[in-house]
Amino acid sequence: MSLIAPSDGWFSKRTAKDERIWILIAFVLCVFLFIWMIMWHVVGKQNPSNTTYKTTTEEFGRLHDAYVQKHMVGMDNGIPVVKPEPNSDVILMGQMWRWSPVLILQQDEWYNLHISSTDIVHGFSLQPSNMNFQIYPEYDYVLRFKPTASGEYKILCNEYCGIGHHIMIGKIVVVQDDSELSQYGYDPNTFEKTRATAGSADEDISGWSEAQLVEAGETAFNIKGCNACHKTDGTSEIGPALNGLFGSTVTVTEDGARKDVVADDAYIALSISDPQRQVKVGFEEIAMASLELSDNEMKQMIAYIKSIK
Ligand code: CUA
Repeated sequence: MSLIAPSDGWFSKRTAKDERIWILIAFVLCVFLFIWMIMWHVVGKQNPSNTTYKTTTEEFGRLHDAYVQKHMVGMDNGIPVVKPEPNSDVILMGQMWRWSPVLILQQDEWYNLHISSTDIVHGFSLQPSNMNFQIYPEYDYVLRFKPTASGEYKILCNEYCGIGHHIMIGKIVVVQDDSELSQYGYDPNTFEKTRATAGSADEDISGWSEAQLVEAGETAFNIKGCNACHKTDGTSEIGPALNGLFGSTVTVTEDGARKDVVADDAYIALSISDPQRQVKVGFEEIAMASLELSDNEMKQMIAYIKSIK
């Protein structure tokens, strides 16, 4: 209801001439812009032609973990590095608060890039080429593309996604041939070895040494993105730091009450599978997503966290 009611029969009244002209201008402009929405795919190549599939955050997360485990060739600041084959399907995951993996691509080769988020909406902004997409959870956004210029590209998040938004920076490196890798800090001689040690999900690990468990646990820790929030050098901006954690006494909030608990195997396992049950004092405002780990991964992860002095 409006404050002043229009007079009776206003709808069937003749429209004034200047008003008709404005309606016509607006209509022509709409049609013009609509045609250009389609034209931008062709002229200027501004709107990429993508395909989108329905997925779930869990499914895409599993896809990412399996993909990285299989193809990983190294680590770059705690983020796995993958060097995909030309013409293959490439998985890129946005999550609070990182882009994973780091991609090494070959110039002038085609790739099928699958992008999705495993939590909330993120913004994919490739710099300095200034390509921008919104990355939605539950949708697998597939873009077939060919990098045409070598160099190092940064993926910035341009959709505000919480406390770690500003640190959510990913990387894509495009090279003409492998001899250029060293200038970006990668050593192709170590690629094979890394690939061989990454996978371990369904193996029988009962006979593994502590060192093997720790190594596999660290890989899982990085692949699953725990390191985006949990640092191991004592800095703890987003999540509690993990160095010196094992065996220490932690003050937590449980059901609104504070209490001291000893950080033992059970505490670490609980903090991973049900992170909101006992929250370390000071971190109540930041909810960690619970992490589904296989028994093997849990064992490896606990071994790794224990080892961080
Ligand atoms: Cu992700 Cu901002």
